[in-house]
Amino acid sequence: MSLRHYLSVTDLSPAEVRETLLLASDIKRNPGKYRQALAGQTLAMIFQKKSTRTRVSFEVGMYQLGGHALFLSGADIQIGRGETIEDTAKVISRYCNGIMARVYGHDVIEDLGKYATVPVINGLSDLEHPCQTLCDVQTLVEHWTADGGFDPDVLRGKTLCYVGDGNNMAHSLLDTGAATGLNVTIVAPADYAPSPVIVERARKLGEQTGAKIVVSTDPISGVQGADCIYTDVWASMGQEEEAQKRQRDFAGFQVDETMMRRANPGCLFMHCLPAHRGEEVSAEVCDGPRSIIFDEAENRLHIQKALMVRLMGGR
Ligand code: CP
Repeated sequence: MSLRHYLSVTDLSPAEVRETLLLASDIKRNPGKYRQALAGQTLAMIFQKKSTRTRVSFEVGMYQLGGHALFLSGADIQIGRGETIEDTAKVISRYCNGIMARVYGHDVIEDLGKYATVPVINGLSDLEHPCQTLCDVQTLVEHWTADGGFDPDVLRGKTLCYVGDGNNMAHSLLDTGAATGLNVTIVAPADYAPSPVIVERARKLGEQTGAKIVVSTDPISGVQGADCIYTDVWASMGQEEEAQKRQRDFAGFQVDETMMRRANPGCLFMHCLPAHRGEEVSAEVCDGPRSIIFDEAENRLHIQKALMVRLMGGR
């Protein structure tokens, strides 16, 4: 297996994204087949930021694959006292079979990848959240494939509209849509647009896979034609002091029933969580019949098990 790290969705080719989705679906349906897949292996989990889903799903996932996970808070290991990422990556590689890290700057995850001699997985950086968006498309495939089947081709020609901050979630959704043929529209206020570099790379890949990539500032027209509306908090971790300004700047961008009615009939609602009901999404939508947020959260477990089997299996 040539793939060594998963720092970005773009580390996987469209064919590898498809294989990973199919593997995640098989692992979910037949967990017993994979019970010893990573027997005796250890995953180091470095967290510079807080987490519920990422921490629990990776730790449980390693246990279910026969391995073990170590929780390493950034504040408690020597990184917090200035030890370099290079030395940290080299040392942890001598003890563990893989590293998953949640960091602020994307350069930190890239440096871990540069210096580690074991696979590194991005558990969220300020630029990308690539584990989340693979589980998001896994969840859509489950909901859109007829008769309980799992056919990643159902994504082709469907449209996901992300409404909110053009942040790491928007970036990884762009990459994931482009890899799978899922059209992605990002609707964000002008000052919160996604990275033009990532929009451009998604457009280029989308030309090969058929995914249409659109960026808009209009939450009224932007959601028309959407089969799924997705949002995230307006102030991400590390932006708490901007929360009040952002509430003003994002006025009109709340996903509520009026917005859902502008989309296609049967439009689903997704959120990576944690959610702030009454801010980026109304409680009615978040907890309503079109919301698939808990299926989505569960699939973090299955997709990450698939990623770890791909990256760490056979070692
Ligand atoms: N969606 C997500 O990454 O959740 P956590 O921040 O709880 O890990």
